Amino acid sequence: MSTLIIGGTGFIGSRVMRLLQARGEPVICMDINPPRVDGETGMKAVRGDVTQFDDLVDIMFREKPDRVLNLSYFLGSEHAPRTAFKLNILGMDNCFEAARLAGAKRVVFASSLAVNGQQKFFGDRAVTEDDFRHGDNQYAVHKIFNEEQAKDYRAKFGMSITAVRPANVTGPDKVRGSVDHVNCITQPARGNAISFPYQDAMRCPVHVDDVAEVFARVVLADAPKHDVYNTGGTAISLGSLAEMVKEFLPDARITFKNETGGRDISGNYLIDNTRLVQEFGVQYRPFRQRVLQIINEVRAAEGLPLVSG
Ligand SMILES: NC(=O)c1ccc[n+]([C@@H]2O[C@H](COP(=O)([O-])OP(=O)(O)OC[C@H]3O[C@@H](n4cnc5c(N)ncnc54)[C@H](O)[C@@H]3O)[C@@H](O)[C@H]2O)c1
Repeated sequence: MSTLIIGGTGFIGSRVMRLLQARGEPVICMDINPPRVDGETGMKAVRGDVTQFDDLVDIMFREKPDRVLNLSYFLGSEHAPRTAFKLNILGMDNCFEAARLAGAKRVVFASSLAVNGQQKFFGDRAVTEDDFRHGDNQYAVHKIFNEEQAKDYRAKFGMSITAVRPANVTGPDKVRGSVDHVNCITQPARGNAISFPYQDAMRCPVHVDDVAEVFARVVLADAPKHDVYNTGGTAISLGSLAEMVKEFLPDARITFKNETGGRDISGNYLIDNTRLVQEFGVQYRPFRQRVLQIINEVRAAEGLPLVSG
């Protein structure tokens, strides 16, 4: 039983590849920028462009994966409309359609907390998967369309397609998408000063190892109970995150231009992940431990002394 991971070279995908491989699951990566893989590990990697339907048909009929996970996407909303459309909308549909034609049993894809839009639409309550989606930027609207397209494939062809909505994924090597909460940890870990507009801006970080575990469990599940799952994370202001970083790095130079404001324009940060926790038994490590882990991974890579908890 094999799993095809499209976008398997990326921040999240590379970790899902390693997790599945460590569990003895045959895994194939298709990416426009494929990783070098050691033939002994049992992993395969091929170059393929998800915007090219023929590339997907070719790999799906050749490898006949039982499961498909699509993580290829443009993060952010700054992309030219047609460029973003090709990868985010057409690429996702190519993936659904090729999986249908090739008879893959399961398809999983990454949606995002961005579909929910700003927290102010929900007041002070945690958002569930059934809430109305207020997201209105390019990225959010494309994710909402992907979710709707998945619903149409389920309804018309009986396919099993599951969306996972990661929160603000964090890790030492995250460079795309929401990165202020990442830089708040990684720049001080390198000894660099960093400044942000608002101390009270809220985020919902979740460590990339936890998110990779979520994708691994959801993609290996035969019949998930739901079509959409929130990963959730830890709701925290950038100011509180800076304080946490300073517990480990007392000399960290993190400043804010405004001590107040920012919360009212923050994206969704209160997220209900009961569905995922109850069905898949996921348990995230305490966020403080993850912050220390990121600091030390960055410092190890820079040849700096590690800090203790
Ligand atoms: N990182 C986050 O904080 C976050 C949060 C919510 C949702 N997500 C979603 O999770 C998914 C993975 O995110 P990530 O952070 O790993 O992104 P990433 O940019 O690190 O990885 C994307 C991968 O897709 C590949 N790719 C790009 N264009 C391609 C194409 N035309 N054909 C084939 N492969 C192509 C890239 O080479 C890259 O390896 C995305 O759908 C993203 O929207 C991420």
